[in-house]
Amino acid sequence: MKIAILPGDGIGPEIVAQAVKVLRALGEPFEMEQAPVGGAGYAAAGHPLPEATLQLAREADAVLFGAVGDYRYDHLERALRPEQAILGLRRELQLFANLRPAILYPELAGASTLKPEVVSGLDILIVRELTGDIYFGKPRGVRECPDGPFKGEREGFDTMRYAESEIRRIAHVAFQAARKRHGRVTSVDKANVLETFQFWREIVIDVHGDYRDVQLEHMYVDNAAMQLVRAPKKFDVIVTGNMFGDILSDCAAMLTGSIGMLPSASLDAGGKGLYEPSHGSAPDIAGQGIANPLATILSAAMMLRYSLGREQQAARIEDAVRSVLAQGLRTPDIYEPGTTRVGTGQMGDAVVAALA
Ligand code: IPM
Ligand code: MG
Repeated sequence: MKIAILPGDGIGPEIVAQAVKVLRALGEPFEMEQAPVGGAGYAAAGHPLPEATLQLAREADAVLFGAVGDYRYDHLERALRPEQAILGLRRELQLFANLRPAILYPELAGASTLKPEVVSGLDILIVRELTGDIYFGKPRGVRECPDGPFKGEREGFDTMRYAESEIRRIAHVAFQAARKRHGRVTSVDKANVLETFQFWREIVIDVHGDYRDVQLEHMYVDNAAMQLVRAPKKFDVIVTGNMFGDILSDCAAMLTGSIGMLPSASLDAGGKGLYEPSHGSAPDIAGQGIANPLATILSAAMMLRYSLGREQQAARIEDAVRSVLAQGLRTPDIYEPGTTRVGTGQMGDAVVAALA
């Protein structure tokens, strides 16, 4: 089994190194090959997603991805910016199903900005469609406004769209995930205003016909944002489009108070996937050895579960992470008085030690 290791920018290399250490400690015969991506890809080969990196990602069974983005590349035109690397990988590998769990570890209940009784026991799975919607819809661009009150001015525009099969396949992912959890799906849309999401709702209802055992509710995205901070524990699985999922998943992540803890998986139709922490590249703390590697380590666990068929090894890593938290080890982002402050490498070593 071959794993493509794409550390990227900012804290990416430090946190990915810890996940690689943990993967090696499992004693599995994984082949791991590394390649530059994001700003590092631009620096190495003049493009955020170099051809050789894309080729490696294509031939691998799974991709472990750090994070992309750095101030140094902010001046580049959009097509060359680091973010294009992750968007390109999602598109080229057809990683349409993004799973973003938001789990509150009991040891970290104090880290949330919400009251403990609102968030304790939180366990939500956001299923975000990842290759459609306004992110990839065409046409898009800046043009001269063709009509209406602003005719003749320049205007920026994007296209929101979903094909029926795109909605169907992500709905199936959500209903199947709910079956393995608490059997509830909330489909988030804006059916009261947008044609695209009125259609979305119609198709989700149709797919639900195959999953009568799962409870389905619909919620407008504005209300969903409110409910996420008001009573987040009411949710089990949330399924939504690319744009709404981007926004709601950051909101859900912050409920846990520790975005440094949250992994994610982006899957294609055949189970191949790209695994990355839900947080970004944090260039402000890069190279200091203080970044939290746990989201990346937990992403490696998701990789073992969803792409490499190693459920037991996945659970082993998750248990090891719980154990280091129980030991009181904390990187600065989750530090509280009375716990032990550790750096990125020490946290990785502690997880390796806890595997035994
Ligand atoms: C995410 C990020 C990306 C997105 C950016 C980096 C393009 O915010 O993975 O949520 O918008 O999808
Ligand atoms: Mg985002």
